[in-house]
Amino acid sequence: MNNRLQFVIVGFLVFMACETNVEDDLNSQQDCIQVEEYYTENIKPILESSCTACHSGSGSSGGLSLDNYTAAYSAVKSGDVLDRIQRESNEPGFMPSGGQKLSAENISLIQTFFEMKCQ
Ligand code: HEC
Repeated sequence: MNNRLQFVIVGFLVFMACETNVEDDLNSQQDCIQVEEYYTENIKPILESSCTACHSGSGSSGGLSLDNYTAAYSAVKSGDVLDRIQRESNEPGFMPSGGQKLSAENISLIQTFFEMKCQ
C-alpha cells in the first residue's frame, strides 16, 4: 500500500470517528432536553402541589429543596423521593409528611422520570 493511500484511509477513519461523536453528543443533548420537558410538564406540578410547601428555598425540610429542576432531578435520581412516596402514610418517613399518599398515577409519573436517561 502506498503512503498516500494509507493517509487517505486513516484520514477517513478519523473523520468517521469525529462524525459519530458529534452525533452522540447531539443525541444526548436531545435526551436531556426531553427529560427537562418531561419534568416541566409532569413532575413540577406534582412537587408544587404536594412537596414544595416544605421543600423549597434555603430553609427546606431535611435540607432538601424540590423547587427547581436540578435539585428535583438529583433527588429523584438518587431514589430518595421514590423511597419516601412509596411508603404507606402510617410508616415513618412517609412523604408528603402529614399529607395523603400520592395517587398511583403520580407515583408512576415520578417512576418514569427516575428511569429516564440523560448523560
Ligand atoms: C409538611 C412538610 C413536608 C411536606 C409537605 C413534604 N415533606 Fe419531605 N420532609 C419533611 C421533613 C420535615 C423532612 C426531614 C425529616 C425526614 O427525613 O423525614 C423531610 C424529608 C424528606 C426527604 C429526605 C431528605 C433527605 O435527604 O434525607 C425526602 C426525599 C422528601 N422529604 C421528599 C418529599 C416529597 C417527594 C414530598 C412531596 C410528595 C415531600 N417530601 C413533602 C417535610 C415535608
